[in-house]
Amino acid sequence: WPRTAGRDGGAVTIGGADVRDLVAEHGTPLYVVDEEDFRSRCRDYREAYADGDVHYAGKAFLCRETARWVMQEGLGLDVCSGGELAVALSVGFPPERITMHGNNKSLAELERAVEAGVGHIVADSFEEIARLGFLADRHGRRPRVMIRVTVGVEAHTHEFIATAHDDQKFGFSLGSGAAAEAARRVLALPQLELVGLHSHIGSQITDTAGFEVAARRLATLLVQIKEEHGVVLPELDLGGGYGIPYVEGDTAPDVKVIADGLREIVARVAESAGLPVPRLTVEPGRSIAGRAGVTLYEVGTIKDVEGLRTYVSVDGGMSDNIRTALYGAEYTARLASRESDAEPMLSRLVGKHCESGDMVVRDLWLPADLATGDLVAVAGTGAYCRSLANNYNYLPKPAVVAVRDGESRVIVRRETEEDLLRGQL
Ligand code: LLP
Repeated sequence: WPRTAGRDGGAVTIGGADVRDLVAEHGTPLYVVDEEDFRSRCRDYREAYADGDVHYAGKAFLCRETARWVMQEGLGLDVCSGGELAVALSVGFPPERITMHGNNKSLAELERAVEAGVGHIVADSFEEIARLGFLADRHGRRPRVMIRVTVGVEAHTHEFIATAHDDQKFGFSLGSGAAAEAARRVLALPQLELVGLHSHIGSQITDTAGFEVAARRLATLLVQIKEEHGVVLPELDLGGGYGIPYVEGDTAPDVKVIADGLREIVARVAESAGLPVPRLTVEPGRSIAGRAGVTLYEVGTIKDVEGLRTYVSVDGGMSDNIRTALYGAEYTARLASRESDAEPMLSRLVGKHCESGDMVVRDLWLPADLATGDLVAVAGTGAYCRSLANNYNYLPKPAVVAVRDGESRVIVRRETEEDLLRGQL
């Protein structure tokens, strides 16, 4: 739940706003983002990495307004497509604070990044290094390049969101020598400035050991590059991936503790080789946006499947939150429009889509007097819900409202039927 969540007169409040008022004004399903929670997480990171850089990973949830918050809080931004870059540039995000990612950036996307003068481009393949050399010549620019290194860490998270084992599509593998070869190739192109190395081991990781192993391996490669080429790279980007609690019993690593640990590891490796300590960057997405977001749904049909459980249907589902269906993600939800002391009933919160995998929360306890028209709030939906939203079954994407000091305002408007038909001939 967001830091400002509470209860007032029985109903849940977020950022001082009563969910019943939010729904009366904006409808359901509704994504509610607690602005202060989002911003305070930005500040926590800024403080923990005061001597480094924090780049919010826009894929978690980027819109023009969240880009402004990130900009105002002094963070940089990680984008991984031309579209994300366009959102950032549209609000005047300083390009030098943007990092461009992607395992298959198109020539047009790379060109846009080079032209805009983004602060870092993270090279992910040999083809891309060649393309960057060509674009640098064409535009008379000297892009600042990092090399994405696959450090060979098995992160303990869902297979689809683990990214540092060898058998996947991202980066240059460390073990095979591809990463060292990538450094050689970038250094051979004087029109490119190699500024550092990058690693991202996966997402929703709560065991910090993986981050530490990755930092040590990356710092070791930095030392090897110095030995081989005499070049001291000034920066290490350790990616994102810091987990958040979704259900009771989940733990989340502490931002400050991780920062201190990583800083120490990198400093030890660099100093023992007589190198200056590189500047650290991290790219948190979920751990900034995730807890700030809550989804509000209205309860529709309630079906008691004798002896098993009660299926509670809401007016959204896998189109506004696909994470349960895609990763088996778990969420916490509660009756939000009133309090109830009725007995808890074993429930499954399901959507309105035409498939049985369409679940929002697989198993939860809801009060037995739950009724059609009640509001249910699902916590922890600020990251990777709106950004993964889709129009399956032609459901319009819900609005996103920001709440702060009891006031709400739409930051992304609800899609309409007209939006759904747009572009069709
Ligand atoms: N940096 C890079 C290069 C990344 O690929 C990612 C996430 C991040 C930073 C931010 O990671 P975070 O701090 O948010 O964990 N759709 C999945 C998550 C995919 C993450 C992709 N990359 C989910 O809903 O769990």
